[in-house]
Amino acid sequence: MKKILVAGGMGYIGSHTVVNLIENGYDPIIVDNLSNSNIEVLNRINMITGKKPAFYKVDLCDYDKLENVFKENDFVAAIHFAGLKAVGESVEKPLMYYQNNLISTLNLIELMEKYKVNNLVFSSSATVYGDPISVPIYETFDLHVTNPYGRTKLMIEDILRDYCKVHKEFNVALLRYFNPIGAHPSGLIGEDPNGIPNNLMPYITQVAIGKRECLGVFGNDYNTKDGTGVRDYIHVCDLAYGHVLALDKLFTNSGLVTYNLGTGNGYSVLEVLHAMEKACGFKIPYQIKPRREGDIATCYANCDKAFKEIGFKAKYNIDDMCRDSWNWQKKNPNGYKK
Ligand code: NAD
Ligand code: UFG
Repeated sequence: MKKILVAGGMGYIGSHTVVNLIENGYDPIIVDNLSNSNIEVLNRINMITGKKPAFYKVDLCDYDKLENVFKENDFVAAIHFAGLKAVGESVEKPLMYYQNNLISTLNLIELMEKYKVNNLVFSSSATVYGDPISVPIYETFDLHVTNPYGRTKLMIEDILRDYCKVHKEFNVALLRYFNPIGAHPSGLIGEDPNGIPNNLMPYITQVAIGKRECLGVFGNDYNTKDGTGVRDYIHVCDLAYGHVLALDKLFTNSGLVTYNLGTGNGYSVLEVLHAMEKACGFKIPYQIKPRREGDIATCYANCDKAFKEIGFKAKYNIDDMCRDSWNWQKKNPNGYKK
């Protein structure tokens, strides 16, 4: 079986991708320092797939420990999810973000070169487009970033573009995710944020379950259908499957490829809230608050390139996403914590 190094595979998107890799006949080997994830994820993956993947509790910034993982395994590819991802925190602690996200990636690329592992899928983000000149957003749009988190994503993309120019044997898929939400339909794995959620969906489900009082809607005076921010929400299982498709592309010796992964549809904050009310069958309290600094009005993808080149098409709609997010929250009111 083909071994895939899954860096950050214990996290939200990584764990769903590990399930997908197992279901598609791969042997995922997870490397994660558990800085934003829980060891219980391994049991849950086992419950879904009947297989407990190999796991190394290793920080990617520790070159020697990461090298041991390469010595012990013959990888055909790596998928790199490992990184810190909170925009606000990155503004407060820029060095922590540059150190963690950049050093981890440099170590990974260096070891891939040393051990001749020539295929890499990297978790980039729609954040690299900044405030786009128009929507939908195409991969060819200019890239602008406005915070240290986004800058780490753009820097890593640039590093990989530079690297691929001279390493013709190296294949990279830069996957620019839009807004992943939802959870595995089993309700066994899902998003488990630490503390107060920054993102919309976990905040809504925590209000719905009674852990928080009221959703703050950040601004209702944007130039959008109802004044609230519009995003391209994508079911995490669709996103996970996109990684399997991207691997197939890399194995054709593709060089560097870049894909938007979204649905191509934009939903406002209030539309998501109402879809969630439908999923749980009751009203969810909210209050209009001032705009959140750094937010843009509208962001959604054009995903034609991913469809044409790798056959990627999201199959879950917003109601499916809300149903599965709510199912996960209900079954795991405290996330993975006992
Ligand atoms: P997550 O925090 O749930 O998962 C990241 C995992 O990486 C965690 O398990 C964490 O413990 C691990 N990790 C972090 N630094 C590490 C290090 N130095 N060594 C080893 N492990 C480390 O995040 P996620 O939502 O699954 O996101 C995965 C990737 O996708 C991230 O790179 C993120 O920036 C990117 N992304 C996420 C979103 C989103 O909205 N969730 C959107 C766009 C891009
Ligand atoms: N929002 C609220 N209240 C909340 C949280 C969010 O009204 O409590 C609104 C935001 O203002 C925005 C929308 O809900 O209009 C979505 O916000 P999220 O924080 O869920 O997502 P963002 O689009 O701001 O950012 C996310 C990730 C980033 C990533 C970006 C693009 O957090 O890391 O998607 O992929 F870069």
